[in-house]
Amino acid sequence: MRKDLIAGNWKMHSTHLDAIQMVQKLSYRLDPADYERVDVVVCPPFTALRSAQTVIESDHLQIDLGAQHCFYEEKGAYTGEVSPQMLSKLSVSYVIAGHSERRQIFGESDDDVNKKVKAILSEDMIPIMCCGETDEEKEQGLTEERVGSQVRLGLQGLTADQVAGIVIAYEPIWAIGTGKTASADDAGDMCTFVRNTVAEQFGEAADSVRILYGGSVKAGNIAGLMAKRDIDGALVGGAALDPDSFASIVRYWL
Ligand code: PGA
Repeated sequence: MRKDLIAGNWKMHSTHLDAIQMVQKLSYRLDPADYERVDVVVCPPFTALRSAQTVIESDHLQIDLGAQHCFYEEKGAYTGEVSPQMLSKLSVSYVIAGHSERRQIFGESDDDVNKKVKAILSEDMIPIMCCGETDEEKEQGLTEERVGSQVRLGLQGLTADQVAGIVIAYEPIWAIGTGKTASADDAGDMCTFVRNTVAEQFGEAADSVRILYGGSVKAGNIAGLMAKRDIDGALVGGAALDPDSFASIVRYWL
């Protein structure tokens, strides 16, 4: 069955020194039983990955390391970019692809996201591919059309085996960083819609894909979200910056 996954997206927060403390504090608040039930992932900025990796390895922590972004080429004249291989050599296991902030602020297209997903898989890392509608799209009743096309285009050309191992995060853009969470029912329905969209193209692989909800997730709303059949975890922004609140989200069943 699908193992739950709670991933913290730190965005552009924390120096490498902060990251060491944040990972250590988080680890003090979690027990072996937590890691058995949930895959716990932290996604610090690039500059903090090496420090986070060092703490995780030297303290033998079961926290997995994720990156927030990468370019899809292996190497070359791409000033400022970071390749999937550079990340995998830092023991990064997950890479977020197509977060709405990357799409909206940095102009990433569905095609870019698709290339990234393939590049991440080629380095044996797990993509966390994001999708989600804007406020206007929601108002115009275009949510399913938008999310459906992001999922289809993002997964184009993948094999069913590859798809089975990936993670998709449904993050309505109007809920990110706004304090407005989708209701557990709406979030659950959209995650079911995402799974059905994957199933149309890849059949049974859709049963193995882990689907996360993201958008103002906190300790107070995680349990309702996790009760939904097609929600396998959460991608957490703001509440992941405080190890106490992130740990309470990881331990939502208590
Ligand atoms: P938020 O961010 O939890 O602060 O809304 C979620 C995300 O952007 O992944």
